[in-house]
Amino acid sequence: MAGFLEEKVVAITGAGGGIGRACAVACAAEGAKVVVADIGVGLAGEDPRSEVADAVVAEIAGAGGEAVAVAEDVSTMAGGSRVVDAAVEAWGRIDGVVAVAGILRERMLFNMSEDEWDAVIATHLKGHFTVFRHAAAVMRKQESGSLVGFTSGAFAGSVAQANYSAAKGGIVSLVRSAAVGLHRYGVRANAIAPIARTRMSANVPMELGEMGEPEDVAPMVVYLLSDAAAEVTGQVYTVVGGRIAVWNQPAEVREMRTEGQWSPEEIASRFGEVGVERMALIDRLEEYRKAAAAGDKPNT
Ligand SMILES: NC(=O)c1ccc[n+]([C@@H]2O[C@H](COP(=O)([O-])OP(=O)(O)OC[C@H]3O[C@@H](n4cnc5c(N)ncnc54)[C@H](O)[C@@H]3O)[C@@H](O)[C@H]2O)c1
Repeated sequence: MAGFLEEKVVAITGAGGGIGRACAVACAAEGAKVVVADIGVGLAGEDPRSEVADAVVAEIAGAGGEAVAVAEDVSTMAGGSRVVDAAVEAWGRIDGVVAVAGILRERMLFNMSEDEWDAVIATHLKGHFTVFRHAAAVMRKQESGSLVGFTSGAFAGSVAQANYSAAKGGIVSLVRSAAVGLHRYGVRANAIAPIARTRMSANVPMELGEMGEPEDVAPMVVYLLSDAAAEVTGQVYTVVGGRIAVWNQPAEVREMRTEGQWSPEEIASRFGEVGVERMALIDRLEEYRKAAAAGDKPNT
């Protein structure tokens, strides 16, 4: 039986370990030719080693698949362009990009350094831009392609990961913008918010209530890259274990109007007409504080 991704060329960043590796192996098993892009850094982005990408290429080749390694930093324009060029040089096209590369630098906002902010935004958010931008130029001419970003449930807010949360929110907006901006060229863009057992999830300051394996996330990536998902764009999907859920699209929910300009007094007196939308995370802060005081990780 032909694989789901027969004849497709796919580049995956962060493919040297964790979820990215599982996606690369699954895409190759479904017939895709794969660029395994990973600079092989530690969890905080330190100590790069090219061997991790080479090892996944060898694993794919050992299983009868085709892959090439790119050990570049995807937070640079040159690195993003190398990832896309490697696909085009080896196989003449690029049908899919999966941006999985990421790092963590946990810190409360009031203690966060500029470097902790910059490194996380650069790896996650700019690391999506660099590969999406170069791939989009090729896909536009091909009039086909699928971009898959990796966000996180933390995009909705995070106590101790303001940098990570902001990057992941930016990725959702980038994916939605790519979906509308590239729609007329037949190029799609979607995002996955995974939860899976990796070195990264082992290090978050929360006890993750739901857990799955990296291999549980890969089939949804394969689906989004495939022609079976030709109508799917601009979406965010949670994938954990055997559960897949779709996120809503942001939209205004209530409004109030006045003649001319508002005064602060009028806003104060009529504020209940728009009111607030409950932020579920705020209701749980007391629970988090108690867990931290007891030396435990709070549950998500
Ligand atoms: N594991 C989870 O539960 C979880 C939850 C929510 C979101 N995510 C997201 O899923 C993605 C994968 O996470 P994971 O758990 O597999 O992490 P991981 O740490 O196991 O793997 C990340 C990979 O990215 C690579 N990388 C980091 N910086 C890079 C750079 N500048 N250039 C190239 N490669 C780079 C690393 O070398 C590593 O192999 C991340 O974007 C993460 O934020 C994971």
